[in-house]
Amino acid sequence: MTAASPAPAEIARAAAVLAAGGLVAFPTETVYGLGADAANDDALLRIFAVKGRPTDHPLIVHFGDPADVGHYAATVSPVAEALAGEFWPGPLTLLLAAHRRVSRVATGGRETVGLRVPAHPVALALLDAFGGGVAAPSANRFGRVSPTTAAHVRDEFGGTVDMVLDGGPCTVGVESTIVDCTTEVVQILRPGGVTREQIEAIAGRVGDAAGPSRAPGMLESHYAPRCRLTIVRSVTRAHERLASDPGELLDLSADAPAAAHDLYALLRDLDRRGVAHAVIVEPERRGIGAAVVDRLHKAAARPG
Ligand code: TXA
Ligand code: MG
Repeated sequence: MTAASPAPAEIARAAAVLAAGGLVAFPTETVYGLGADAANDDALLRIFAVKGRPTDHPLIVHFGDPADVGHYAATVSPVAEALAGEFWPGPLTLLLAAHRRVSRVATGGRETVGLRVPAHPVALALLDAFGGGVAAPSANRFGRVSPTTAAHVRDEFGGTVDMVLDGGPCTVGVESTIVDCTTEVVQILRPGGVTREQIEAIAGRVGDAAGPSRAPGMLESHYAPRCRLTIVRSVTRAHERLASDPGELLDLSADAPAAAHDLYALLRDLDRRGVAHAVIVEPERRGIGAAVVDRLHKAAARPG
């Protein structure tokens, strides 16, 4: 058994690292996050530097108790309240008007803030021990594949991160669903661990983010392995493609939750094995399959 669970002393040490302005990578149910004290601008700037991420790409602020949402949000609409009540702790990020006390370094200069209460015992223990908000993007270099194990984080950053908490592999495997609650009709800006169907059941009408995405980092190539990817809808189609463009076949169509769980490890493994081209059969675009399809297409996009 290698299923990891940091000892209480290690959690306490991680909270102290955060309090001192350090960076702590920690597990969530979606992917590993690279955390810093959300109220310490120098620490936040280190996140951007270490990731190589533009400073106008906002960070999600994580906290441990859904009741604290008013500490970070200036206003919480009834729909946002209902979504938080249903899905927090869980893989849902709500975009809300930012409270004045929220650092504009965390929000990338915006007046909105992404908020999330993660559902992972290690993340919750860390947030509880730290006692404040923790800003955390996925713990990968900008534009690269997100990490779903502590080993992925170490591969990505080596010693440039002050501490990595190992909580074993992430259960969901793809990032949180981002729902913009600042518009009349809420909009899904990024499909993720909570499905559109689940959001609709609580929020009623759900819009589609139209036009240029209001969540930076959503549209360009992202989650990209070095391996060239061709995404197809059926195994038949995959064999057709492979006949003219040889490569490895990966069929992710049978079980969408399993595909989500394994996706980033599979993409990393393609690179580790030096595979030059892979043809991937995508799952159907419903439930968590929508998030898998979204990430596959972004992983396949080449920077223009
Ligand atoms: O599951 C997750 O959400 C993971 C774990 C660690 O919680 N975090 C994560 O963070 O995926 P990141 O930074 O890799 O992706 C967050 C996305 C970014 O594309 C960012 O642009 C968008 O959320 N975002 C955050 N705050 C925003 C805001 N105020 N307005 C628009 N977009 C925002
Ligand atoms: Mg990310």
